Amino acid sequence: MVSVAVLGYGTVGSGVLEVFNKNHDGIIRKAGAEMQIKYILVRRDYPGVPYQDKFVKSFDTILNDPDVRIVVEVMGGLAPAYDYVYRALEAGKNVVTSNKELVAAYGAELLALAKEKNVNFLFEASVGGGIPILRPLSQCLSANEIAEIVGILNGTTNFILTKMFHEGMAFEKALKIAQDLGYAEKDPSADVNGDDACRKICILASLAYGRHVYPKDVHTEGITKITAEDVRYASSWGGVIKLIGQVKKLENGQIYALVSPAFISRESQLATVDDVFNGILVRGDATGDVVFYGRGAGKLPTASAVVADVIDAAKHLKARKYIGWGAAVDGYVCDYLTVPTTLFVRVAARHRTEALKSVQRLLGNVKEVVVPEVKDELAFVTPSMPEGEIRRALQALETLDYSVISTIHVLDD
Ligand code: HSE
Repeated sequence: MVSVAVLGYGTVGSGVLEVFNKNHDGIIRKAGAEMQIKYILVRRDYPGVPYQDKFVKSFDTILNDPDVRIVVEVMGGLAPAYDYVYRALEAGKNVVTSNKELVAAYGAELLALAKEKNVNFLFEASVGGGIPILRPLSQCLSANEIAEIVGILNGTTNFILTKMFHEGMAFEKALKIAQDLGYAEKDPSADVNGDDACRKICILASLAYGRHVYPKDVHTEGITKITAEDVRYASSWGGVIKLIGQVKKLENGQIYALVSPAFISRESQLATVDDVFNGILVRGDATGDVVFYGRGAGKLPTASAVVADVIDAAKHLKARKYIGWGAAVDGYVCDYLTVPTTLFVRVAARHRTEALKSVQRLLGNVKEVVVPEVKDELAFVTPSMPEGEIRRALQALETLDYSVISTIHVLDD
């Protein structure tokens, strides 16, 4: 009998219990071993919940029980999750987690510890919710050099942007619905300011290119400044706005990574990824584009990925399953400002023709974007240039008294 302990009984934790019980027979068959969830670590009481005999409040009860071979961390956050996961691995227990903040912050260290202790450290649920992405990337696509990964990686913001775009719903109302549906983080600022998507692109980048990429090294913009006018401009340009995480390997061996809202052409496969769905495009040199699509957040989709990792850990109790990457190195992630990009720009301007002349002098051949109802401004898409050069040209424009209202990245094909 393989005993499992679940740390946390929130949205994901309760989903893990639900999936484990509902699909118990198939799960046991696929694991090839009898399994039970012996403990659920909670911080408060849950009266009326049917697992009273499993609830414990001390992590040491789990740590000191040699029957527990697999620890499932679904608490989220770094404290106390990091301490518990570290101690569980150190004690020779296998760990499964859905915690992207933990993996993005300490992945290399925890993977090294798991290797030293010959146990599994698995985290499929940390990216893309119920979408299989980490195993496909590390196994099925492993013959490829990965040129690029571009993804809609946060369900909450995609839900909000979809509601704003298709229903004209206000930002706060859409966020409240996403929270009620259990999509958002405990502190939803991590969703809307881009931090959650950043953690996920860091995990994908680390896995695809073999070295840990830390969130602090990835320039990150959220969606809080996106307005109804921006959405109309995107539509007039021929696309939609999505919060995108992207990473690619440059010819010099450095990694370019960025999280930002972006105009995406209607032709793109990512443009129709709506609501809570995530879409992740992986460009391999042998496969070409492979797109992964599914529910990126929510109780049961996320629990599906967690329980699948539990099954995998149970199948590999003796010979650990290798998935991972090495430690970070200095200078591995490039300065995003040095890499060519394309920006959509809105500038306050009473006289558009004059403003356009100044813009063309500074930025060359821009493409104007027009929304007839929006007055007194010039909106345009720049040519592809190093982002730092575009930013310097926009500063020069401001010295000519044209104030920049907003800039949004444009996703290249
Ligand atoms: N808050 C996250 C999201 C949950 O909205 O995508 C899944 O990681």
